[in-house]
Amino acid sequence: MNLKDLYINFFIEKGHKQIPSAPVIPENDNTVLFNTAGMQPLTPYLKGMPHPLGTRLVDYQKCIRTNDLDSVGDSTHHTFFEMLGNWSLGDYFKDDSIKWSFEFLTNVLGIPKERIAVSVFEGNELVSRDIESHDLWKSLGITEDHICYLGVDDNWWPNMELLGPCGPDTEIFYWRSDEPVPDKADLTDERWVEIWNNVFMQYNHDQNGFTELSQKNVDTGMGVERTTAILEGVNDNYLSSIFKDYIDIIAKYSGKPYDEEYAPSMRIIADHIRTIVMITGENSGVRPSNTDQGYILRRLIRRAIRHESKLGIDTNSDLFSVLIDMVIEKFKSYYPELETNRDLIQDVVETEKKKFSNTIGKGLKEFNKIIDRGANEIDATKAFHLYDTFGFPIELTSELAHEKGLSVDIDGFHKLFSEHQEKSRAGASGKFKSGLSGTGEIETKYHTATHLLNAALKVVLNDGNIHQRGSNITEERMRFDFNFDRKLTDDEISKIENLVNEWINNDYTVTCEEMNKMDAVNAGAEAMFIERYPDLVTVYTIGNVSKEICTGPHVEHTNVLHHFKIVKEEASSAGIRRIKAILD
Ligand code: ALA
Repeated sequence: MNLKDLYINFFIEKGHKQIPSAPVIPENDNTVLFNTAGMQPLTPYLKGMPHPLGTRLVDYQKCIRTNDLDSVGDSTHHTFFEMLGNWSLGDYFKDDSIKWSFEFLTNVLGIPKERIAVSVFEGNELVSRDIESHDLWKSLGITEDHICYLGVDDNWWPNMELLGPCGPDTEIFYWRSDEPVPDKADLTDERWVEIWNNVFMQYNHDQNGFTELSQKNVDTGMGVERTTAILEGVNDNYLSSIFKDYIDIIAKYSGKPYDEEYAPSMRIIADHIRTIVMITGENSGVRPSNTDQGYILRRLIRRAIRHESKLGIDTNSDLFSVLIDMVIEKFKSYYPELETNRDLIQDVVETEKKKFSNTIGKGLKEFNKIIDRGANEIDATKAFHLYDTFGFPIELTSELAHEKGLSVDIDGFHKLFSEHQEKSRAGASGKFKSGLSGTGEIETKYHTATHLLNAALKVVLNDGNIHQRGSNITEERMRFDFNFDRKLTDDEISKIENLVNEWINNDYTVTCEEMNKMDAVNAGAEAMFIERYPDLVTVYTIGNVSKEICTGPHVEHTNVLHHFKIVKEEASSAGIRRIKAILD
């Protein structure tokens, strides 16, 4: 049995109910691009809402973290990974959590307890030193020298700055080395690898500080890829059974060995293909684009193509297609949507690949010319030229430059990019801070159309309780989810279209102001995630028809939207309808 199944079964035996993995693209939350941890979709329940399946839950969760994207290529980093988690929602606390983790690791996985070390929270002004966890570990036979008290930087999750449920944790480490296990554990030694994190979630962190949650929760997380590698005794995650098949195929297509020179490119392709399949394989409709998740997807596909080319593989070969099928085969029993969307995934990647394969060769030549001219920096104009003419995401240019020891004027690039996009307010959203390029002109129009649609639904359906439950925008269309319990009639759909078009024609001015959060709410502003907003929010007002808390960007006048048309109205999930619309 593999690690995932062992884990789920173990916790089911301990009275947990298995919950399905939530989509990797958060469904009703546009404040983050991807699900990064098992607890993320459970936030309302950690804060006290009763969960329909009770107080003990277990799952495997698809996660994507892009903050380490540039580190992928070494033996341990991944963009997509699966997180195993078990939760107590105000049920058991430290005692059972620690005992069961120990039992699973030593009895089920057969890890000798001598190879385990743990860290526990040393205490701060909020929470006292976690002597209880220390003593529990000790009672289980972990020696005093393998129990380390550490501070908030190591033993507080997620960290003291981030908002949401949080608390001190105890982290479990495994000695991954052929060297003898040291008597005294120094957890800064990289041979001690963290495999499991048990968070004792007692607090909610909001703008006003830390408040005790109504219940004490346990939230744990174990990375499948890392733990599998450990169990299989390999020091390189990409040599474990999870990745080995991909690496073998890539090596075969390239005719190159998996060695210091070529392994990084092989790992990048293997990692990125998995992530590409997971993003495209969901029903969220994310496609390669220049914003948000679509931009990450584009970067991943283009970076994978670049490394294919670096390995000397013909970028028109069917390697990606073979790898995609391989990912689907491995995961389809866990994530059936991948099988359902197999053709679509293949199509999306093929189309993006064609786009880039045509220009990458020329772009690389252009890049080499710059190097040959003896430049020691890729200036903004050249970086922008590589982007605009050859489709090189700035991160790709940076990576190429880095390999040659050159720097890139990234700030200058972004400046040119914004000028080019004729947009002044993009980048205001926190989502864009992590290297995303911003929002294009078309997407900006769709953002504004979203607000108009949100307002029109309330008017036409005569229901002030209708609110946005999700939205997704590409260059081609907008998608808008809202709560409503039946199908819309043709008449209603045309009334909604007409009203939005009337508002567009009225050429309302869109204004933007900073307001105190509660003032905004009292002024009737729509707010999707009130508890997650900072105290000071940006409110966009469109004429006298719409007011919403939003980070923008938006157009300045509604008539630039030209014409709004609903192309589809369907059910999204229970009680949630979905409208797809275009501006033409
Ligand atoms: N939420 C915790 C983590 O991601 C368990 O490490």
